[in-house]
Amino acid sequence: MSTVIETRNLTKIYAGGFGGQEVHALNDLNLAINSGEIFAYLGPNGSGKTTTIKMLLGLIFPTGGAIEILGTSDITSARVRRNIGYLPEGAYYPDFLRGEEILKYYGQLYGLGGAELQKRIDAVLEEVGMTNARKRLMRGYSKGMRQRIGLAQALISDPQILILDEPTTGLDPIARKEMRDILARLRDRGKTLLISSHELLEVELISNRAGILYGGVLQTLGTISELLTDRELTIEANGGTVESLATLADKGIVTEDRVGEKLKLRVAAGIDPYDALNLCRDAKLSLVNVAPRRETLEELFVRVVGEARAKERSAVS
Ligand SMILES: Nc1ncnc2c1ncn2[C@@H]1O[C@H](COP(=O)(O)OP(=O)(O)OP(=O)(O)O)[C@@H](O)[C@H]1O
Ligand SMILES: [Mg+2]
Repeated sequence: MSTVIETRNLTKIYAGGFGGQEVHALNDLNLAINSGEIFAYLGPNGSGKTTTIKMLLGLIFPTGGAIEILGTSDITSARVRRNIGYLPEGAYYPDFLRGEEILKYYGQLYGLGGAELQKRIDAVLEEVGMTNARKRLMRGYSKGMRQRIGLAQALISDPQILILDEPTTGLDPIARKEMRDILARLRDRGKTLLISSHELLEVELISNRAGILYGGVLQTLGTISELLTDRELTIEANGGTVESLATLADKGIVTEDRVGEKLKLRVAAGIDPYDALNLCRDAKLSLVNVAPRRETLEELFVRVVGEARAKERSAVS
């Protein structure tokens, strides 16, 4: 496993214009992305994702720190450029062009031409399942088809690395599944994918590793299975009073749902399951079901961002 993208203390401060305050968009990012993985780069709006991506692409310059891509810090060299495909968020292509014309245009930007370019166009159209629609105008493409042409565009130079900003946003469940399958296939063929997305269910299904950014600071980093461990317990039970449930909540056993007699309780991570069951007995609950529960990526995200926000608030006050 080799590292294809590495950042060391990567920092970006935007200068404030007209007396405005400067924005610390990214602070000391240390990140290594390995070959053949799908890395999910997550964070709420304004957390610094696009800023990072733009620096990796050489579109804006870091204020501090270093970037290495494919073993070189010369990230605007032709070799690096050819090896990074980029799908911008909400990529727009002119309505009057045909799918294949767009690919031709982008291929030429990479210095491709003639039979070689034709071969690449055929290959990427096949890759994204758009061979039959290649001669249709963009105007007539659905959102899913546009997104697939966008991906084909990112693939035209046969890059080792793909950087995709919100690849599944606005797609219906079937188009999403298709996009997911295409991305997984690309990963299996050895490509490295960096995906920025707010669609955490999608991300959880396809990525190997994730990082969560907040306020320009990387808050959490790990493989999906490290991040989402079976740490919690869900208990279904009957009974309980407002008081006894409040007592349980104080001890980390929180009522998630209460319909009549029926309860669903969540036991916080770190509480011994036997202790939890004893506490439920003390609260006169009758047990219906006990199950381990894996946190979803969405829950992890909400928790991590919530904690970072709380820390920020307490630092200000
Ligand atoms: N050109 C710029 N000049 C000044 N500030 C900027 C500029 N671009 C971004 N910012 C600020 O930097 C911070 C990070 O923005 P960025 O676009 O990287 O966030 P993001 O994580 O991509 O958000 P989103 O999920 O909304 O796309 C924000 O506070 C944003 O307002
Ligand atoms: Mg963004």
